Amino acid sequence: MTWLITGGAGFIGAHVVRAMAADGRAVVVLDDLSTGDASRLPAGVPLVTGSTLDRPLLDRVLTEHQVTGVLHIAGKKQVGESVAQPLRYYHENVEGLRVVLTASAEAGVRSFLLSSSAAVYGMPDVEIVTEDTPCLPMSPYGETKLAGEWLVRATGRAHGLGTVSLRYFNVAGAASPELGDPGVFNLVPMVFQRLAAGLPPLVFGADYPTPDGTCVRDYIHIADVATAHVAAVRRLEADREGTELVLNIGRGEGVSVREMLDAIGRVTGLDATGEVVARRAGDPARVVASADLIAKELGWTAEYDLDAMITSAWAGWQHHHGSGGGASA
Ligand code: WQD
Repeated sequence: MTWLITGGAGFIGAHVVRAMAADGRAVVVLDDLSTGDASRLPAGVPLVTGSTLDRPLLDRVLTEHQVTGVLHIAGKKQVGESVAQPLRYYHENVEGLRVVLTASAEAGVRSFLLSSSAAVYGMPDVEIVTEDTPCLPMSPYGETKLAGEWLVRATGRAHGLGTVSLRYFNVAGAASPELGDPGVFNLVPMVFQRLAAGLPPLVFGADYPTPDGTCVRDYIHIADVATAHVAAVRRLEADREGTELVLNIGRGEGVSVREMLDAIGRVTGLDATGEVVARRAGDPARVVASADLIAKELGWTAEYDLDAMITSAWAGWQHHHGSGGGASA
């Protein structure tokens, strides 16, 4: 029983590959290496370099490796870029998924998992976001993830595949320094970049209707995200056709930008006092997951806290960007 992991050489995918291998599972990776890096893969994991849009290649991989389950993690994931390039996002995230699903259904794959995102909720007007909270995505990126969930669900029903879509909240940290996220697109690495340059981290708005005025998010360690995939795989293997799940992956704990800066200052020993600047367009004040359904359905809960995320993310930053840190406290 082999699992195909698309996007397995990327930041999230490589963590999932590692967790799957540690759980004793046979995997094969398909990655176009546009943002992925082959050196992230453990020895012995086969890598097929190519696109999810390449149907003949998919047919070959699914057959040659006798794939019975697919973890579809490949995709574009930058909100701002999706606003500027919606056609590219729909092409890669929706059409790419459609091709993978078509090939999977025709090859007799029994189980399918999709990487989705809290971006499907948009600006949820609730304290705690459950899977029943209405989905009103605010960006083409979020739209492609929601459309992807629909496509997965409909295909599962029509072709008898068990399906799981996992809605990631704010992913941070690294399971080991070399697996750290080299990208600088989210709060934690953006703070590190400012600190490394000897500049104060930026706080995008301190006038939100939250306790300290800054935006609140649900940060989750990437190692926990990876084990959630393994838990979903176990469920899919145990109950193939009966499974149709959409689940949040979060900790159910809100952390404000100011609280994050305090924690980063404490963990790194640097002065992480922020400089408040204007709000960033499109940011919801608060997005915090209910993690109850995934606990109930998969028996999974997050293990790591905020300090573990920051400590490991900082080690990953130093690995990829050098020790930098001009603003020692
Ligand atoms: C977090 C908070 C910023 C940088 C995005 C996607 C979401 C998911 C995760 C993929 C916000 C504030 C940030 C900085 C700041 N991606 N901030 N100063 O926007 O919650 O979520 O990434 O699935 O779908 O929307 O994450 O890390 O960009 O921002 O004050 O220098 O930090 O305004 O409130 P976001 P983020």
